[in-house]
Amino acid sequence: MTNIARLRHFVCAMTRLADEGAEERRFLTEGAALLRDLVSHDDWLPEDYATPGPTYRQYLLHCDPAERFCLVSFVWGPGQRTPVHNHTVWGLVGMLRGEEISTEMQLGPPGTPMRPGRVDRLRPGEVVAVGADTYDIHVVENAFADRPSISIHAYGGNIGAIPRSVFDPATGAEKRFISGYTNAAVPNLWDRSQELAAA
Ligand SMILES: [Fe+2]
Repeated sequence: MTNIARLRHFVCAMTRLADEGAEERRFLTEGAALLRDLVSHDDWLPEDYATPGPTYRQYLLHCDPAERFCLVSFVWGPGQRTPVHNHTVWGLVGMLRGEEISTEMQLGPPGTPMRPGRVDRLRPGEVVAVGADTYDIHVVENAFADRPSISIHAYGGNIGAIPRSVFDPATGAEKRFISGYTNAAVPNLWDRSQELAAA
């Protein structure tokens, strides 16, 4: 049985932060601590949101009704990677299963190749941030060629509906995209009957 209460507690705590008017800096410290706690256990993510596909999957787990934050499960099959992309809002990446490599990509003069910058290798339980203090443009890849990886991402908005950009690493050319989500339904956080029966 999945311990969906962990996900519900995270969503409730993030909602309280948002209700207190938290800005990016608080989400990147207090929100990061909440995400670190969530990904320090691997017993809560329902299987439907942990399944790889022919390309990487982005399953929405929750979107705040006022679109102040969202939570997404990213599932990479062996060797899969994202295009070079930006976010435009703060983001937190928490490693749940496997390992991933996030590589900052820096723009040069128009028409010239992009250059790699900071490299973060994430292991289970670790959290890194993307935002104003770190970097906004990166590429993320599964560190392994023989097993899937799963990371849990929080963003400062409804990331699947935010106009963003992908970049051609050979030229830096920018193309607008709106990512959407892989799934049509989100996990049910609110059936508490089993917890209550066990109490
Ligand atoms: Fe990203």
